[in-house]
Amino acid sequence: MAKIAVHMTGGIAVYKAVEVVRGLQKQGHEVRVAMTKNAARFVGPATLAALIKHPVLIDQWSATLNGQVPHIELADWSDLALVVPATANILAKMANGLADDAVSATLLATSAPKMAVPAMNVHMWNNPATQRNIAQLKQDGVIIMEPADGMLAEGYAGKGRMPEPAEIVKQVQNCLTKQPLQSSAANGPLKGKTIVVTAGGTREALDPVRYLGNRSSGKMGIAIAQAAAASGAKVELIVGSVSVELPQSPNIAITTALSTQAMADAVSQKFAHADALIMAAAVADFRPAVLADQKIKKHGDGTLTLHLVPTEDILATMGAQKKPGQAVIGFAAETNDLLQNANAKLAKKHADVIVANDVSKPGIGFGSDANAVTILRPNQAPLKWPRQSKQKIAAKIVDLANQLLKAGD
Ligand code: CTP
Repeated sequence: MAKIAVHMTGGIAVYKAVEVVRGLQKQGHEVRVAMTKNAARFVGPATLAALIKHPVLIDQWSATLNGQVPHIELADWSDLALVVPATANILAKMANGLADDAVSATLLATSAPKMAVPAMNVHMWNNPATQRNIAQLKQDGVIIMEPADGMLAEGYAGKGRMPEPAEIVKQVQNCLTKQPLQSSAANGPLKGKTIVVTAGGTREALDPVRYLGNRSSGKMGIAIAQAAAASGAKVELIVGSVSVELPQSPNIAITTALSTQAMADAVSQKFAHADALIMAAAVADFRPAVLADQKIKKHGDGTLTLHLVPTEDILATMGAQKKPGQAVIGFAAETNDLLQNANAKLAKKHADVIVANDVSKPGIGFGSDANAVTILRPNQAPLKWPRQSKQKIAAKIVDLANQLLKAGD
């Protein structure tokens, strides 16, 4: 579930944007709306406010409930800014960084990925000025959903028609799960750096059909891989078992490593040529002492005693071996005494950062779309990052990695 700011600008296609809002809500997203004054001539803000159960932002000078500046509040709140429909005018403003109303000011202020769905008359679309602005926006990393060919409101056919709401919702889903910031990555702060990221849970085989595993979904590690790629890094993503779709990106190379040993081998090989390691995987601490080559049968009273032996601690090995200039970030999944346990891991594993999360709380951590974490670093006060999407946490962790690498340069 993401927080999506839908920005509506003044074209007849605004009526279809109402369906987009409904479609996004049906996907479980939280939606807020900003409109230009011209958009509000086509569809009443009251309709949208009733749908989203929140006031619609039209006037930059209106007051918010908590006293914050309205366009900054919306800009900071959103995980994605969707401009639908995007008129030639808003495209021109975005391409040139203008901020003279609530919509353009919010779009300039947000650091969330931006997607625009242009809809306009075919001649306005084909105008070289609009095409220049589109090219600039693509270069700036804005995802443009090209208009469709079809009958325009003017009564003749041409390119400029807004795609159907269901297609827009599908594209938003793609954009949220795949590589949201791909096009802005080329000049990102991690350009030229290689980051190894692990994600998911490892599995330790008991026999040909059974294994010991854990509930890790892989969401956190995958979000980190995407954020690192979006910042320009070359990412080596090493995945155990995951329950979500893997990212598809030219900057993310994926290696599957199901067992702890396979993951240890892959991490050691990739980290030898990398700048940073981020161990988000939930790695098994024990494996069966013997791997049965045939399915274990029930015997006697049906009980089974397993003899488990420790696995390699990948993070601790890499932390101890890291060369000057390399950064190592680990996680700590705790159910109790979070700070004490996580601080002990920071020292024991020679990590530069430990991202500690309380896995006993519902709605964060394992399997969830959100997380709340405490950042621990040697000789520095802990940082608390309250509950927010894993994408946001991932972007901040990647920022930390960037700071570490800069300090070590
Ligand atoms: N980790 C690892 N290799 C292991 C176990 C854990 O690399 N065999 C890494 C995890 O990827 C994570 C960090 O170590 O980055 C901490 O993992 P966690 O499960 O919280 O702690 P453990 O070291 O397993 O300690 P404990 O289970 O006692 O809390």
